[in-house]
Amino acid sequence: MSYPKKQKSISLAWTGASGAPYGLKLLECLLVADYQVFLMISSAARVVLATEEGVQLSANGKKAEQQLLKLFAERAESSLKGSLHVLGKDEWFSPPASGSAAPKQMVICPCSTGTLAAVATGMSNSLLERAADVVIKERGQLILVPRETPFSSIHLEHMLSLSKLGVTIMPAAPGFYHDPKSVQDLVNFMVARILDHLGVEHDLTNRWGYDKYSAEDSNK
Ligand SMILES: Cc1cc2nc3c(=O)[nH]c(=O)nc-3n(C[C@H](O)[C@H](O)[C@H](O)COP(=O)(O)O)c2cc1C
Repeated sequence: MSYPKKQKSISLAWTGASGAPYGLKLLECLLVADYQVFLMISSAARVVLATEEGVQLSANGKKAEQQLLKLFAERAESSLKGSLHVLGKDEWFSPPASGSAAPKQMVICPCSTGTLAAVATGMSNSLLERAADVVIKERGQLILVPRETPFSSIHLEHMLSLSKLGVTIMPAAPGFYHDPKSVQDLVNFMVARILDHLGVEHDLTNRWGYDKYSAEDSNK
């Protein structure tokens, strides 16, 4: 399998924590922003996606790509410019598997405590875990969006050790100060914060304080 080289590429992983809507929205935004997205999905993530979004994703990567693109087209919120590659857990010859080709940025969203543990201990037992390990060793940008409550000391210790390595830990914890009217507003809040960290432009939420400091005001 050959992958056309694009300027902007990123690895995205969905794992079996609650929060499939975050993962879906993040993928959509990255494709709108013209990214080449290498998507890795754990088996538990497929169960959560079916439970939370009613989407039964095929285990075949090509079919899963078509399903996801069709889903976004039906929602038709924005036009997609990027490209999507859904990778299986043993696709060791794909770009995310090697430091010589892996995207410099990766997000695991949502991130289960199981995958958190695997990444913190360098397990690399699947492509998803290996991809995270590669981003850490290559000193790229890795963002984890864990969801569990309460966190045990095991979870907190894993998060601390990863944070000390430069990994960004962004728990799925949307704020309520922007007057959300729907669940989608809460999802967008979380995804907007992730996109901010990645340096991807978006218009999902208003920027803090900017309604008071518009361009017009600053010229006065
Ligand atoms: C509907 C559903 C919701 C779950 N929610 C969470 C969760 O919020 N956080 C978590 O860490 N695990 C959650 N789990 C359990 C994980 O899916 C499970 O530990 C799994 O082994 C994680 O595997 P993975 O890391 O390979 O995706 C959930 C499972 C299901 C079926």
